[in-house]
Amino acid sequence: MAIVDAKLMLLKATGEKYAVGAFNCTNLIQMEAVVEAAVEVNSPVILQASVAPSAFLKPQVIVAIYRTLAESAPIPICLHLDHCSDVDFCRTCADAGYTNIMIDASKQEFGENVRRTREVVDHCHALGGVSVEGELGTVSGVEDQVRVAEDEARLCDPQQALEFVDRTGIDIFAPAIGTAHGVYKTRFPKIDFERFEKIAGLINGGTTRVPLVVHGGTGLQPDVVKRLVSLGGAKYNVSTDLKHTLIDTTYRYITDHREEYNPGNIDKSVKGAIKERINYWIGLLGSADRA
Ligand code: 13P
Repeated sequence: MAIVDAKLMLLKATGEKYAVGAFNCTNLIQMEAVVEAAVEVNSPVILQASVAPSAFLKPQVIVAIYRTLAESAPIPICLHLDHCSDVDFCRTCADAGYTNIMIDASKQEFGENVRRTREVVDHCHALGGVSVEGELGTVSGVEDQVRVAEDEARLCDPQQALEFVDRTGIDIFAPAIGTAHGVYKTRFPKIDFERFEKIAGLINGGTTRVPLVVHGGTGLQPDVVKRLVSLGGAKYNVSTDLKHTLIDTTYRYITDHREEYNPGNIDKSVKGAIKERINYWIGLLGSADRA
């Protein structure tokens, strides 16, 4: 049951008004922590790897870890390639066994974004069992290889969003609505809820066709998260929070145990800290007991 693509998992989430946490991981300990935390509360979950860790660890290695963890877990788990602007690398990861691929051609003009996204959709759908996420408008901040300055960020146009979804055949859709990757400079960033609602209505007004994704999850206040979920956000991406947790916990452990040379203890303390963060997000997103 456990190896799934994103589409069905997120159609269910949209229908039942909760969101599935999609957590960026860079190593085995993080992946284990995410899966263990999700299993403990019976929640579906999405493991994400962006391009740099995927290339560094190798897609086959990440897939081997994913499959080993997912096959023995009684919950649905998807493995997602995050923000990949390279069509060939999207194909490589889909062929290796990732079950959701995000082609991020959002920096291209509309026609080229459609063309590249369609190419990835055709490849993944021909393989079967691999869904595709596309993005329109640009999310500011830095996520791995994708960097968008604040003055470059463009919000998603709702009518274009509908055309994008229809022409590309994507399975899930990430519209830029004012969220940003990284740490927000203010506690109250300007999120365009009305735009998000309009996009959700245009695409999924009658029946849900293409579940929506919220990027830039770290740092949004709980009421903002809940509002986005109630408006149709079904996949909720968290990366920066887990990077900070990994590095801060490691730093603290080593500082407190300067004479100890036992890497396993660092791993245990990182795993515990990551699990706490996953529990927090799952609680907020309402995905516990939805597996
Ligand atoms: P944060 O780094 O802000 O959590 O964003 C994560 C994200 O959207 C990954 O695609």
